Amino acid sequence: MTEQPVPAQQSETAPAGDHQPIKQRKNGLYPAVSDELAAHMRSGWADTELRGLEPLPQAAETARRRAALSRRFPGERLVVPAGNLRTRSNDTEYPFRAGTEYAYLTGDQTEDGVLVLEPAADGGHEAVLHVLPRSDRENGEFWLDGQGELWVGRRYSLSENERRLGLPCRDVRKAAGELAELDGPVRLVRGHDAGLEEALAGRLDPARDEELRVFLSELRLVKDAFEIGELQKAVDSTVRGFEDVVKVLDRAEATSERYIEGTFFLRARVEGNDVGYGSICAAGPHATTLHWVRNDGPVRSGELLLLDAGVETHTLYTADVTRTLPVNGRFTDLQRKIYDAVYEAQEAGIAAVRPGAKYRDFHDAAQRVLAARLVEWGLVEGPVERVLELGLQRRWTLHGTGHMLGMDVHDCALARTETYVDGTLEPGMCLTVEPGLYFQADDLTVPEEYRGIGVRIEDDILVTEDGNRNLSAALPRASAEVESWMARLKG
Ligand code: GLY
Ligand code: MN
Ligand code: MN
Repeated sequence: MTEQPVPAQQSETAPAGDHQPIKQRKNGLYPAVSDELAAHMRSGWADTELRGLEPLPQAAETARRRAALSRRFPGERLVVPAGNLRTRSNDTEYPFRAGTEYAYLTGDQTEDGVLVLEPAADGGHEAVLHVLPRSDRENGEFWLDGQGELWVGRRYSLSENERRLGLPCRDVRKAAGELAELDGPVRLVRGHDAGLEEALAGRLDPARDEELRVFLSELRLVKDAFEIGELQKAVDSTVRGFEDVVKVLDRAEATSERYIEGTFFLRARVEGNDVGYGSICAAGPHATTLHWVRNDGPVRSGELLLLDAGVETHTLYTADVTRTLPVNGRFTDLQRKIYDAVYEAQEAGIAAVRPGAKYRDFHDAAQRVLAARLVEWGLVEGPVERVLELGLQRRWTLHGTGHMLGMDVHDCALARTETYVDGTLEPGMCLTVEPGLYFQADDLTVPEEYRGIGVRIEDDILVTEDGNRNLSAALPRASAEVESWMARLKG
């Protein structure tokens, strides 16, 4: 990459006046800017204001969400930051991903943004978005600051953002100071913007802030039509990413799990924003490590590949899909036996997803199937009721059978137990159903041939008015169908 900033000129001493670089390296590596060059850079630029911008497709939904938030906290100032760039090393940053609450309530995704809901006289709120404006050309920021538009790309102007987002917009660089001066109760979504937290420190109460995050988590439990469309897009791209992987399994065999990670990532970056979480590309015994993301192991014929991956859309909705595939296209008898048990458990779990069912039902249904198979195979002493009561199957099933899915892969994580885990399914909820069986390589309680086998099957299931819809149904699940699908793709 090109080292930042600045074009060379004259002496290393910064000139007096208004035109000093916004950021100069302490070591004086970059020469100062002459008044003549500064003047030259200030003028001669075309007006590029975008005047025909339409509101974002989700603008009506973000307004409805802000209205719901306003009703819940009348008379209180609510502050929801996007978050800031984070340093990866020296002067390079991680790719920015806006905070979920901010993107959910605004549709915007730029760093440093802050949504403020100001209490209004009528008991509601006026929503104001504080965002970075276009880079200043007068003071040279646009070319002298490492985050200036000349370095990192054009931003929307405040008036462009007002049209896109349907919100009044102001320059965010004054926001922290202004907010710190205002009286009255304030709640802040924490964890995204340390500077803002510091500026408001004396005014905040952790418990009240937590209530704000909990409410926003619960608001996201039921998805609207826009969100369901985005989740389907995420899943559709993910399906194509899985197909990409199957087509290059021979290259992965010649290299490593990284080839699989890279192949899926290409699809995620070309069709979406990113992957929604670190792809788990777990071949052979790595499949028994639940979150294997090192992805640096070998891929061998005769073993299984557990691929757990999801594309995140440009609007930040992610899929979360797992398939466990025989690397050479054919399950061995034992692999098939274990795979079919997990498939049967998943079928039972999916069948339990419907409006009015308890959230826990699909987990219980899947666990019952797995416990029964483990007893049948002689790995744990029955009867099944005893195994379930004591949770003995969990040595091999390890994790819950699913979770809510949305802008976060483990969505709505702060929702209260009574609204989520002890709650009731409603149309518009979207969740994963992902049973698994994992026999660790060093598990002496199972026959040797089981050791190192891990199977998970994960689909994204939408609760509908009369049952459910499997958003990821385009990816085969039954063992025979997986084999014929792989044979087709591998040609
Ligand atoms: N990919 C993480 C999970 O399935 O929950
Ligand atoms: Mn999952
Ligand atoms: Mn997953």
